[in-house]
Amino acid sequence: MSDWKVPLYRPEIGAAEADAVADVLRSGWLSTGPVTQDFETRYADALGVHGAVAVSNGTAALHLAVLALGIGPGDEVVMPSLSFVSAAATVTLAGATPVFADIASAHDLCVDTDDVARRITPRTKAIVAMHYGGYAADLTALAELARSHGIALIEDSAHAPATRTRHGILGTVGDIGCYSFFATKNLATGEGGMVVARDPALLARIRRLRSHALTSSAQDRHRGGPSVYDVDGFGLNYRPTETSSALGRVQLAGLPAAQARRRAVVRHYREHLAELPGITLPFADHPVEESAHHLFPVLLPEGTNRAEFQDRLKASGIQTGVHYPPSHLFTAYRERFGTRRGDLPVTERVTDAQLSLPLYAGMGAEETALVVEAVRQAWTAP
Ligand SMILES: Cc1ncc(COP(=O)(O)O)c(C=O)c1O
Repeated sequence: MSDWKVPLYRPEIGAAEADAVADVLRSGWLSTGPVTQDFETRYADALGVHGAVAVSNGTAALHLAVLALGIGPGDEVVMPSLSFVSAAATVTLAGATPVFADIASAHDLCVDTDDVARRITPRTKAIVAMHYGGYAADLTALAELARSHGIALIEDSAHAPATRTRHGILGTVGDIGCYSFFATKNLATGEGGMVVARDPALLARIRRLRSHALTSSAQDRHRGGPSVYDVDGFGLNYRPTETSSALGRVQLAGLPAAQARRRAVVRHYREHLAELPGITLPFADHPVEESAHHLFPVLLPEGTNRAEFQDRLKASGIQTGVHYPPSHLFTAYRERFGTRRGDLPVTERVTDAQLSLPLYAGMGAEETALVVEAVRQAWTAP
């Protein structure tokens, strides 16, 4: 592991997580089974929805969403470029075209509803809204836009597990909500994810596709059920392990307290960084209570050498990150879809200036103060 004084993220893993994993290891069943089923029930209850399907990671969640909606060759899906590349990759692998839309502004890094609307064509099958850093996209308007065109709204809620906002709980407003429990996420199981869907039949389809569309599972057979099965669709193996689900159950129980601690860090950052001239704090006016606070993004003034700024923070033992290099400028996307610099002016301006500061639930006042002081010094360095 690194010797950062303050890393960008740090998972909250304690004795309860270790005990839960040890129990699974002793149970005699390691793949998807009763612990996963219980995790799904608890997750659905936390969101107030009828059901949830646990999967092996957030990318699997998005891929299952795309497959279950029948998105394929000739179809288009409108999505932000300022996101992790998962949604774009799964749409592309399904044979469809990701159509990138710009973000709203330097203060709201989520996708711009008007730009999404402009990019809808008769070929559009879905919109992907990503809740950047845990802040809600313009969800009510996007849901209305999707409804008016008869297309699906997928929420990429990788940054926002069980997050209550004025639009509703993130991931439950659109047709399908996808979550990631990757090692750096607010709810971290190493690798893991979850899918929810408004329509029970759609969720049932997702459950089936998670395991090769088999009509009975290995767990059913383990319990003495029929040893032959049929296959009634084309699925994949996106099943989670019981160890991941055991971690997930413990993390889910601790999430409200962990989120409260993230909010305290954000309040401190907002108070002490706002006074630095030229630095923009995106989402600064967003109510602290209405975000999962997965990331704390700042925008450096135009002309700042970001790499040098990061190096100065690194010298103080502070890790920073960039979220994200925009998908439309990746080599593979430029070559396949002809996207290029200039396509998305707000995204491009923001991505060149963006830096994420450390943010995790276990971050104490001392670490937060260290970051603020290091940023201040990096700021005034000659
Ligand atoms: C916005 C976003 N979408 C999707 C994913 C994919 O999740 P995973 O890494 O669990 O596949 C991630 C995280 O990595 C993400 O940050």
